[in-house]
Amino acid sequence: MSSDLPGHDSGTPLGLVVLVSGSGSNLQALIDASASADAPFRVRAVGADRDGTGGVERAERRGIPTFVARVQDYVTRADWDLDLERQVSAARPDLVVSAGFMKVLGPAVLGAHRAVNTHPALLPSFPGAHAVRDALEHGVRVTGCTCHWVDAGVDTGPIIDQRAVRVEEGDTLESLHERIKVQERRMLVDVVGRLAADRSWQNA
Ligand code: GRF
Repeated sequence: MSSDLPGHDSGTPLGLVVLVSGSGSNLQALIDASASADAPFRVRAVGADRDGTGGVERAERRGIPTFVARVQDYVTRADWDLDLERQVSAARPDLVVSAGFMKVLGPAVLGAHRAVNTHPALLPSFPGAHAVRDALEHGVRVTGCTCHWVDAGVDTGPIIDQRAVRVEEGDTLESLHERIKVQERRMLVDVVGRLAADRSWQNA
């Protein structure tokens, strides 16, 4: 494809703000994939909704700016949303990536930025914070992960990509989630790479 065509990557890396709540292995996959000079995206900042996350530690180790916005530190959730938007916007991202961020993004953030989320189940099955447990308890034989655009709902936005993972005999919550996360990290890096290569979504 010619680089003159609208929507084609002009060569500037896609700037990301990645939001985390936990260990940050999905964030790490993005950081690792963006390490080379010609990588299609860069992690400009990492934000968390709580103190002491592995995700923020991973970012600090790589010299990536970080911030924390804890809902309980604000008078209202709307105040939290506004301040999160301010801190996200300060990094001037092209895309926000919710990678294990355990909060629903509010109208201020979503009004200012396009965002994608990674979820450890095959949506629309098992939305919410306990997707792996819910899938296991339901007895499904195949589950997986989903990357989707974020809208105002809980794990409801348009699906971009999915990967399937078989539930094995004797799987525990931990063993199943670990296998899902292996696929989730690959999916997320693929999706963000594709969104960096074809930016027509920025005009949609
Ligand atoms: C991922 O499975 C994510 O989908 C879920 O929590 C996990 C976060 O893992 N919401 P990590 O923090 O990226 O290691």
